[in-house]
Amino acid sequence: MKYGSFDDDRREYVIHTPYTPLPWINYLGNKDFFSLISNTGGGYSFYRDAKLRRITRYRYNNAPGDSGGRLYYINDGGNLWSPAFLPLKTPLDSYCCRHGMGYTLFESRKNGLSASLLCFVPLDEPCEINRLTLINQTDLPKTVRLTACVEWCLWNAVDDANNFQRNYSTGELEQEDSVIYHKTEYRERRNHYAYYAVNCDTTGYDTDRDTFLGRFNGYDAPDSVMHVCSADRVSHGWAPIAAHHISLTLQPGEVRSLVYVLGYAELDKEDKWQQLNVINKSPAKALLERFNTSEKTDEALKRLNAYWNGLLERFTVISGDEKLNRMVNIWNPYQCMVTFNLSRSASYFESGTGRGMGFRDSCQDILGFVHLVPERARQRILDIAAIQLSDGSAWHQYQPLTKQGNADVGGGFNDDPLWLVASVYAYIAETGDASILEEPVPFDTVPGTEASLFEHLRRSVQYTLSHLGPHGLPLIGRADWNDCLNLNCFSEEPGESFQTTANYESGIAESVFIAAMFVLYAGRYAKICDRYGDPEEAAVIREAVETMKAKVLEHGWDGEWFLRAYDAFGAKVGSNECEEGKIYIEPQGFCVLAGIGIDGKHAQKALASVRVHLAGEFGISLLWPCYSVYHKELGEVSSYPPGYKENGGIFCHNNPWISIAEAVTGNAWDAYEAYRRICPAYLEEMSDTHRTEPYVYSQMIAGQEAPTPGEAKNSWLTGTAAWTFTSISQYILGIRPSYDGLQIDPCIPSDMKGFKVTRKFRGVTYNITVDNSAAVEKGVKAITVNGNDINGNILPLGDDKVCDVKVVMG
Ligand code: GLC
Ligand code: GLC
Repeated sequence: MKYGSFDDDRREYVIHTPYTPLPWINYLGNKDFFSLISNTGGGYSFYRDAKLRRITRYRYNNAPGDSGGRLYYINDGGNLWSPAFLPLKTPLDSYCCRHGMGYTLFESRKNGLSASLLCFVPLDEPCEINRLTLINQTDLPKTVRLTACVEWCLWNAVDDANNFQRNYSTGELEQEDSVIYHKTEYRERRNHYAYYAVNCDTTGYDTDRDTFLGRFNGYDAPDSVMHVCSADRVSHGWAPIAAHHISLTLQPGEVRSLVYVLGYAELDKEDKWQQLNVINKSPAKALLERFNTSEKTDEALKRLNAYWNGLLERFTVISGDEKLNRMVNIWNPYQCMVTFNLSRSASYFESGTGRGMGFRDSCQDILGFVHLVPERARQRILDIAAIQLSDGSAWHQYQPLTKQGNADVGGGFNDDPLWLVASVYAYIAETGDASILEEPVPFDTVPGTEASLFEHLRRSVQYTLSHLGPHGLPLIGRADWNDCLNLNCFSEEPGESFQTTANYESGIAESVFIAAMFVLYAGRYAKICDRYGDPEEAAVIREAVETMKAKVLEHGWDGEWFLRAYDAFGAKVGSNECEEGKIYIEPQGFCVLAGIGIDGKHAQKALASVRVHLAGEFGISLLWPCYSVYHKELGEVSSYPPGYKENGGIFCHNNPWISIAEAVTGNAWDAYEAYRRICPAYLEEMSDTHRTEPYVYSQMIAGQEAPTPGEAKNSWLTGTAAWTFTSISQYILGIRPSYDGLQIDPCIPSDMKGFKVTRKFRGVTYNITVDNSAAVEKGVKAITVNGNDINGNILPLGDDKVCDVKVVMG
């Protein structure tokens, strides 16, 4: 593998060259302050909200790409180079980039000078630390001029990229000691500023981009670096930056560490100013005091490491498959935490300006991180539920800063309400904490409208029941999980949003997928009712679930597979009768995992059809055959060129549904195969084709019918993370939280001799050994807990804080 390798002991992916097929990135930050960082130091930072509180600039479709970020320049006696390779691009004597859990470390060397640049966001601190350590490895003293620079974003990232007539006049800064403060709009309504500091005296500074660069230059050749000069003045308007210049002499063998801090401060209105138009710098100074030595940053890094150790030890596996281990133990949960923090807002493919926290997306993300941060999952559920409307429907997304639902992508996605049930069930199964059901939650974030979360769930389920179409199947509304199946849209206007436009409100188009969701999640809601609410409601709902199952088998079965939908005229979508788009993946996965047609032949037949028509070398495609022309009655799905995105791309999110469905029906090989095909660690060798990071999932991989099959896009922010973690941990390894305790139900290839899992669950550490010397694929013959046999496969909840569990398959 020419680009990099896994270092599992350090939980790092080690990149050996800047020339990766695409920028391979990492995320820094866990709570409020976040940064994206690529393997050449690119990326940007923001506070809580990538649109409204953007701290540094990033130009997405810039050429050359990824040229903004942390800009470091070393001038070693006329040899100019950058420790992260960019921006100077000087070939290095050695280079490596280690992406770890919440930190990134660059190690590079040129002409006997070595540099290590450690970047991380400390726990609970609104800043990013960059610690740059230089070592003179030669026998002669070296005099080095060091420049470090960031470019400020004027807060609102959308306005920053649009409103130049205003923005070129608003930029404001202050400079004091070795700190440059960015205070644009602070004079008026903003009560926050940002700053960039270094913990030593500087020999000069720059605050305005155009002077720093010089006319016609890019960041790869700034005048101030090439000609060793600096403006040393605070500028006004245009494009504010913060650049520090430092001169150092390093004796042979000498090691010097500098700590750069990019920080953010928020002040009370009354305390904003120190004196007229001079900002109150005390919060910045207090923070800088906490990180003004290399030792202090070491301590902060240790705390960060301990935090990640604590999270990742909640579920670990030891199996004979190294790739499986590294995904389950490190990278899959890590990506789940990133989707928890970012939802679909900011990545190298999501600009951070459009999509805040999605209702559907965030609800599903919970499945992947609820065992890691249950308290935070609880809060997230309450935040999401608050953008539900009183009729049970929901805004499709909310802005992280304000938590207000917004209509940017509208509402009326008829799958949304049911995902709330999915997340609440997952939360209670994990924690046993049913008190969440009593929490008062408003509708549409309007104070005074509060009802219990339980009531929200009731309305979710009722919403489906009160929106049924001609076949008794749920109406699709704007779309269901597949945002691009827009059966009421009928758009002919270029640029019109497929998700919010309705030129023909049929009241007819139905979704078999939502029907399957209803069977699964209304079923789970009935369980919730039994236990904590109201058994009569449970009985009514169970009947509705049975009716829905029957409707799916009656009107949602196409003979060899499940239908996808009925369109606005009642015509079939995803049927053998169709010319294109004969079979879709979503209903095959979801109907089967919901248990529809499991006892008859339907489930096995549907999965066999998936294997024949949709499965390929790089994963399972969303549909087949791809749409070759635009169908306005289907919407965006047919707008993509064949093989990409929803038009028959491998939309990774739903591959684990198939994997789970295969496991539910006992097809262990196929379950594992569906898992393995899209799993990044197994794709490392084909990185030239795959192109995105080999340590995280991408939203989609080009399908067989695309011109570039196997090429991935949209890495990081995808529900694939949560769903694959669900499929591998709960259905393949079969360690599944349930109301009554941890259920053990593995479904593994028969040549897998067994495995060990350590699982922390409701305060108990379970050390589970699964023995498959019988070489079966499914079935548990015997379980002992601390030496005692148990009945069934649910581990009883007792008083022991550590349980030794032996499972014999057979
Ligand atoms: C994107 C969206 C998600 C949707 C999927 C399929 O990943 O974030 O909400 O379900 O596309 O269209
Ligand atoms: C586009 C994408 C889809 C995404 C949606 C979000 O339709 O194809 O994946 O969910 O935009 O609005």
